Amino acid sequence: MIETIIRITVVLHLIGVVGLLGGFFYQMGALKTGTAKVLPAMLHSSWLLLITGFGLTGLVYANGEKVNNITLSIKGAVITAIFFIAYSYAKKEKTPKWVVPTLGLLTLVNVCFAVIAGVVVEA
Ligand code: HEM
Repeated sequence: MIETIIRITVVLHLIGVVGLLGGFFYQMGALKTGTAKVLPAMLHSSWLLLITGFGLTGLVYANGEKVNNITLSIKGAVITAIFFIAYSYAKKEKTPKWVVPTLGLLTLVNVCFAVIAGVVVEA
């Protein structure tokens, strides 16, 4: 049962990754003209990643497994930065040029830590 809940939560977590990275790719053309904006999907995805990420951490423990604390500390710090940047510049008339590429880069950093360093440690 808990396995199924974890898998469904991972699906939602991955939808969050798609929302953030998809928003970045969609606006790569606009980056050249400096008109790239923080799309609503990007802000909502950062929320989704934060909530499902915390949920997953609890669920993984409830399933008798352990998490890699270094990976999670980094992911937690990075998603906090993503959320504050996205929240600060969403719905703004003018978005500084660094905002959208930074969101894309920070998302990539978290994907790399999740997949290369790993999140779940066998108990
Ligand atoms: C931009 C933010 C994030 C990205 C891009 C991201 C990406 C990913 C990816 C790609 C996976 C799948 C890796 C795998 O199963 O091998 C994953 C799993 C996981 N993430 Fe995140 N994540 C983010 C934020 C967070 C946060 C903030 C937390 C919690 C503090 C978190 C906790 C977890 C946990 C516990 C798993 C393991 C799920 C499992 O395999 O059972 N994530 N994340």
